[in-house]
Amino acid sequence: MKNNLQLTEDGRLKHLLSLDGLPARILTQILDTAASFVAVGEREVKSVPLLRGKAVFNIFFENSTRTRTTFEIAAKRLSADVVNLNINASSQSKGETLLDTVANLSAMHADMFVVRHAAAGAAHLIARHVAPHISVVNAGDGRCAHPTQGLLDMFTIRHFKGGFHNLRVAIVGDVLHSRVARSQIHGLTTLGCPEVRVIAPKTLLPRDVGNLGVHVYHNMEQGLKDVDVVMMLRLQNERMQGARLPSAGEFYKHWGLTTEKLRYAKPDAIVMHPGPMNRGVEIDSEVADGPQAVILAQVTFGIAVRMAVMSILAGN
Ligand code: CP
Repeated sequence: MKNNLQLTEDGRLKHLLSLDGLPARILTQILDTAASFVAVGEREVKSVPLLRGKAVFNIFFENSTRTRTTFEIAAKRLSADVVNLNINASSQSKGETLLDTVANLSAMHADMFVVRHAAAGAAHLIARHVAPHISVVNAGDGRCAHPTQGLLDMFTIRHFKGGFHNLRVAIVGDVLHSRVARSQIHGLTTLGCPEVRVIAPKTLLPRDVGNLGVHVYHNMEQGLKDVDVVMMLRLQNERMQGARLPSAGEFYKHWGLTTEKLRYAKPDAIVMHPGPMNRGVEIDSEVADGPQAVILAQVTFGIAVRMAVMSILAGN
């Protein structure tokens, strides 16, 4: 979803809604800033005063373990006041609209909203309606975008592989329903990765896959051949109404990542997964817990990346 809502007139980040349409200079600025925050997490005193006096509201209309928690940790490490709205206990159940909820939280002097919603475009809608001093971060909207996941994945690749310019990257599994895959593809192509592959059955590929600048494979042996990075995706059962799908067992047989299939990739290939993992469906435990997996490093880097995003949005 391309628009200028994300940037100020002089080209600074105003909201983070999607990696689609953001220039490489902004992505690199976020990754470089995140690199400076990694050390903060390793210190005895893990906080810096960059968001002191600012109020960050986490409003998650869908479940989350990693994203919500690391946004909270990141905001606290920046010394912000953090409010986690409990949607199930909120007045949404009494019929309050999304924009009325946001307007009321804005009246409580919010400076930033971090939003996850099942509806594509929810964060964009909020960004169009908030006061000019408020920033909005999309923490996942439908199957559209999950920009901070895409950024922490780019950070992880850059950390382990040193950059993007000589890499072959494979994204495997349910690309159709995955907002993570879209953000990964936009991140990789914007940062100069020369070969992004997607490996999936035809029923789990989006119709516009031909416009995404990726190479399509339906077979793990061919798709994983000589790749440097393998990015696995979860089967997004919650978004699959009526889709024609293989069973979990059939999916695992053909597209699940096992030690045997990982041998098609380069010997030093890294294995990534955004989580939550379904072991024995898209990934075998031997791989998920094996020496090539960097899955928990992704989670840890997520804190520094989210600190970087919030810090840049706040004008630091
Ligand atoms: N990767 C990710 O978005 O995980 P959560 O759903 O747990 O936040």
